[in-house]
Amino acid sequence: KRLLPMMSVFALILAGCGREDLSVLRPQGPVAESSLGLIKLSIMIMIVVLLIVFAIAAYVMIKFRRKPNQTEIPEQVEGNFKLEILWTVIPLILVVVLAIPTVKQVFAAGNDHSNDKNAIKVKVTGHQYWWEFEYGDYGVITAQDLVIPTGKDIAFELITKDVLHSFWVPSLSGKIDTNPAGTINRFSFSAQKEGVYRGKCAELCGPSHGFMEFKVKAVSNEEFEKWIESRKAPAVLPEDPALAKTFKDQCLQCHAVGDQGIANAPDLTGIGSREAIAGILINDDTREDGAPIEENLKTWLHDPQSVKPGNLMPNPKDLGLSDVEIDSIAEYLANYKLD
Ligand code: CUA
Repeated sequence: KRLLPMMSVFALILAGCGREDLSVLRPQGPVAESSLGLIKLSIMIMIVVLLIVFAIAAYVMIKFRRKPNQTEIPEQVEGNFKLEILWTVIPLILVVVLAIPTVKQVFAAGNDHSNDKNAIKVKVTGHQYWWEFEYGDYGVITAQDLVIPTGKDIAFELITKDVLHSFWVPSLSGKIDTNPAGTINRFSFSAQKEGVYRGKCAELCGPSHGFMEFKVKAVSNEEFEKWIESRKAPAVLPEDPALAKTFKDQCLQCHAVGDQGIANAPDLTGIGSREAIAGILINDDTREDGAPIEENLKTWLHDPQSVKPGNLMPNPKDLGLSDVEIDSIAEYLANYKLD
């Protein structure tokens, strides 16, 4: 009777791992693959231990069960030096067997790749509640969509602008914290296959922690170079001069497009090509949880707090923008694509 609820809870937990783009069980890169290897090793050890313990328990229960008509208490044994040694040494060996590859892997993933000439260097900055990605070698800053070439090591340097966050792409790597104390954390991973992988903040950082998502877009080398080039193109402003002025006077006081504005808030260059708005409003109307980008931008711009409570974006209405202006800016941004 107890087994059934336990099993259904377990099934529910496993169901959470079903999403291909957010699963540790479907690794898409070498770092995640070796993590899965460790998970498999520990599960194997657990199963072997479980089977042996169950077998011994069953044997003892059957062999020493009370015989019919038995009335006297059987011989009582207390303390067994050999057994004590045995069940101390076996777990010790198991712990060592698990610890060696674990420590090896942790240090391998944390290796400083910043001197590796072939690695793509990305500085990751955690903000409440969005992610900034800076490609120092290319002079490119972007937000929310991390674009990487497949097969190449991406060497990350991680910091935070405010509180502790944790950068996690389940299908590509383990978690790594962004520390407020000014320390820089380093690690690296690579993606084998092209695709879009979901990333999450894995450290409670405020009311919208659960919404602090980002996407990793793994593309071919040529596509990556193309993206960098189009990302460096001059800023595109709204065609309508009045709207362009509003956009500059209001939005570009915190945001940047191309070479204009300030990078205090997410960079908006080519936002029309992003996978999601604010990391969570999926720009794909073919998906059940998605919508056209324009709609997502309007949802966001008309009430940012309703999407991500506690975020620093002011409500454009409070800045004096009319509904028409907000819709026009949403349309402009939706069409601001990188080719
Ligand atoms: Cu950032 Cu949780």
